[in-house]
Amino acid sequence: MPNKVFLNRLKLTEFRNYAALSLELDQRHVVLTGENGAGKTNLMEAVSFLSPGRGLRRAAYADVTRVGAGDGFSVFAEVEGMEGTVEIGTGTAGVTEGQSRRLRLNGTPAATVDELTDHLRVLWLTPSMDGLFTGPSADRRRFLDRLVLSLDPEHGRRSSEFDRAMRSRNRLLGEFRPDPSWLTAIEKEMAGLGVSMALARQEMLGLLTALVERTVDESVFPSARLALSGFLDDEGHRPAYDLEEQYLTMLRDGRPRDAAAGRTLDGPHRSDLLVRHREKDMEAARCSTGEQKALLVGLVLAHARLVGDMTGHAPILLLDEIAAHLDVNRRAALFDLVDGLGGQAFMTGTDQAMFEALGERGRFLTVSHGSVTG
Ligand SMILES: Nc1ncnc2c1ncn2[C@@H]1O[C@H](COP(=O)(O)OP(=O)(O)OP(=O)(O)O)[C@@H](O)[C@H]1O
Ligand SMILES: [Mg+2]
Repeated sequence: MPNKVFLNRLKLTEFRNYAALSLELDQRHVVLTGENGAGKTNLMEAVSFLSPGRGLRRAAYADVTRVGAGDGFSVFAEVEGMEGTVEIGTGTAGVTEGQSRRLRLNGTPAATVDELTDHLRVLWLTPSMDGLFTGPSADRRRFLDRLVLSLDPEHGRRSSEFDRAMRSRNRLLGEFRPDPSWLTAIEKEMAGLGVSMALARQEMLGLLTALVERTVDESVFPSARLALSGFLDDEGHRPAYDLEEQYLTMLRDGRPRDAAAGRTLDGPHRSDLLVRHREKDMEAARCSTGEQKALLVGLVLAHARLVGDMTGHAPILLLDEIAAHLDVNRRAALFDLVDGLGGQAFMTGTDQAMFEALGERGRFLTVSHGSVTG
């Protein structure tokens, strides 16, 4: 069983509809219930800021600060983390407009928010992800890249450098008689980065698939069959050098076509994550709403287990409105699975009765108009 990472304490200042909130927690799971608009998802979002990035709503920081507040927001947490107890402070309070959020670890400014991953991993599942299988491929790529990032922090840097190189290539191709040696240099950079991105994604799929196969019987959730399509499909077994040569050739041969299109048509930015319902052998997009939700829950739980296995520490899980679509038995099974991961989970719902099966394992809190009791 991986070690438990949990929040001991959470304090919010001028965060969404919370002017000020101070919560003492312990290693139990946290159940947040209350009426619509009470502030349940907001509280989850605050916890999601304990991981790099813009949180579970992918918010603009200016929107996060409470309307009417004079300065920015702040989130403070005391965490029993992967390297022992740590005090984490993050937010935009005192930061000049347009700048990113800052981070303090045990009171000392951190160079980047990436340092958070030394202390805890936070994963989430929210209702806004419900359309993942039927929506645009960009959403599925982002989902997959988040999975990769949770184990390979370098993945983010690679994909932003790839994007930058690709933009230079597109710009250059739009010029009259672009300099071929400059184009080749950019394409070489793209080939190196693009192939590492594809291989990292492929590796993540391999790990998840192996885990799903191992745990499929334990799970009451349908398991997913995963594949990548759209760029260097099923080529993960070939050496990176070969793949880079292949992609480089694709780019060189594709210059006239890409110049006409005004963009690069081959690359990791065109990959899609293909998901099938394993038992039914049906593509996820054609499954029922409930089946899609169950597939997604299964995927997120498999990922959480993978993170626990790989790091030795269970991630914090944020499951927003998780119980809503599930019947009584599935709900009870979900709580057992979540608890079995060994980490702390935050779950929301409108009705406390839905979480009865969690029993003593949960801390039950009621949220109302930006305050929390219980
Ligand atoms: N920057 C902000 N300042 C003040 N209030 C805000 C801000 N951003 C969002 N809110 C408000 O916070 C309230 C609570 O939102 P939240 O999404 O947390 O509700 P919830 O409890 O999850 O509700 P539901 O059950 O409908 O999902 C909303 O009424 C919203 O308008
Ligand atoms: Mg909500």
